[in-house]
Amino acid sequence: MNATIDPERQLGQLVEDNPDFARVFESLDIDYCCGGTVSLATACADAGLEVADVCDRLEAARSEGDGRERGWESLTQLANLIVWEHHRYLRTELPELEALVEKVARVHGDAHPSLRKVETEFRDLAAELSTHIDDEEQTAFPIIKKLDTGVELTVAERETLWEEIDQLEADHDETAARLERLEELTDGYAVPDDACTSYRSMLDRLAELERNTHMHVHRENNVLFPKAESKLD
Ligand SMILES: [Fe+2]
Ligand SMILES: [Fe+2]
Repeated sequence: MNATIDPERQLGQLVEDNPDFARVFESLDIDYCCGGTVSLATACADAGLEVADVCDRLEAARSEGDGRERGWESLTQLANLIVWEHHRYLRTELPELEALVEKVARVHGDAHPSLRKVETEFRDLAAELSTHIDDEEQTAFPIIKKLDTGVELTVAERETLWEEIDQLEADHDETAARLERLEELTDGYAVPDDACTSYRSMLDRLAELERNTHMHVHRENNVLFPKAESKLD
């Protein structure tokens, strides 16, 4: 058993300690964002994996990476980092990828009927994510930034923040379910023999969307929101 990683620690805490661990969890299909409060030991048992093997992989990732969560020391900076690295990415990527998904479904839909379901699922995901990030930037994040300055929140602001965080976390569950369905529909983003460049590009970009969104949701569910809520107590 690896001596430096405690299997009883929660997945979200482990990734908060060392963001390089996210890569390992992604590769093993372990949900560290919406499922971030589950312990490493439980997640391994559920996935039929040996804890010791997973700890070895985590140690390898630790020695390869720089182990730092970059660029933030306050909740305001973390919220800004989320907007910069995730919301900005989504605003560019979602419309482009939606056009690509539509094109691939149109060209290859007869040979690969599941692409039509990919198109529907993606369109719903893109619409929901776009509304979601606007909500965060218009309501929750400004209150969190105010909270961060030490200025007392009004009763209405406190109530709004509690309600918003509940709603945003429920949205995250829905997003995670849609990403999982996309992964299933594409057979884990597997490239078919007859795939053209656009088809391959679509699969690569869907896989990157899933990775980026897992880190995005982790930073909100397991770091930003709990730290904001602890300041409300
Ligand atoms: Fe967000
Ligand atoms: Fe979010």
